[in-house]
Amino acid sequence: MLIRREQSRDVEGIAAVTTAAHRRAPDSTEPPATQLVARLHADSGWLPALSLVAIAADIVIGHVVCTRGHVDDAPALGLAPISVLPKGQDRGVGHALMPAVLGAADATDEPLVCLLGEPAFYQRFGFAPASELGIVAPDPHWGSYFQARPLSCYPSDLTGSFRYAAPFAELGLS
Ligand SMILES: CC(C)(COP(=O)(O)OP(=O)(O)OC[C@H]1O[C@@H](n2cnc3c(N)ncnc32)[C@H](O)[C@@H]1OP(=O)(O)O)[C@@H](O)C(=O)NCCC(=O)NCCS
Repeated sequence: MLIRREQSRDVEGIAAVTTAAHRRAPDSTEPPATQLVARLHADSGWLPALSLVAIAADIVIGHVVCTRGHVDDAPALGLAPISVLPKGQDRGVGHALMPAVLGAADATDEPLVCLLGEPAFYQRFGFAPASELGIVAPDPHWGSYFQARPLSCYPSDLTGSFRYAAPFAELGLS
C-alpha cells in the first residue's frame, strides 16, 4: 500500500471509495459524504496537500482529507471524510492514513485538527474531546464525539467556536 497526495486521476476512485464506505446499504443512494468531497474540492477551503489517498494494486482503496476550518476567526482544520473501501477495512488502511494526514498538516504549521467521529477510533491518534481545549462544536449535541488534536504550532489560547468549510453547512452536515 502506498499513501500519497491526491492526483487529478484519483477523483473517480475517491468518489467510489467514499460512496462504498459511507452508504448504509449496497443498493442505497449516494451518501452525503460523496457530495461533500465533490463540493469541498471546488471550495476555497480545499487544501491540495491535505487530500491523501491509499493506493493498492493501482486502485484507490482509501482517502482522507482536511479542509480549512476556523476557530472563531483563527485558521484550523476540519478532517472529513475518511473512507476505506469496505473490503479493505480492518487491515490498517485507516491507521496509515491518519498519521499521514496529521503529519502533513503539522509540516505545514497548521495548529489544530477537529473532527466528528467515534472516540474509540480517533483517540489513538491523539484526539480528545474538543471541549477540553475550549473549542465549541458546530452542534452542541455532538458532545465528546467532536474531537480535536493539537499540532506542534498549537497556541493554547486557540479557543472559541469551530466552523467547517462552507460545504459542510450547505449540505446540512454542520
Ligand atoms: C473508519 C475507517 C476509516 C477505519 O479505517 P480501517 O482501515 O477500517 O481501520 P484500521 O484497519 O486502520 O483500524 C482498525 C481499528 O479501528 C477500529 N474502528 C474502525 N472503525 C471504527 C469505528 N467506526 N468506531 C470505532 N472503532 C473503529 C476497529 O475496531 C479496529 O480497532 P482495533 O485496532 O482496536 O482492533 C473505515 O472503517 C471506514 O471507512 N468506515 C466507514 C466510513 C466511516 O465511518 N468513516 C469515518 C467517519 S467520516
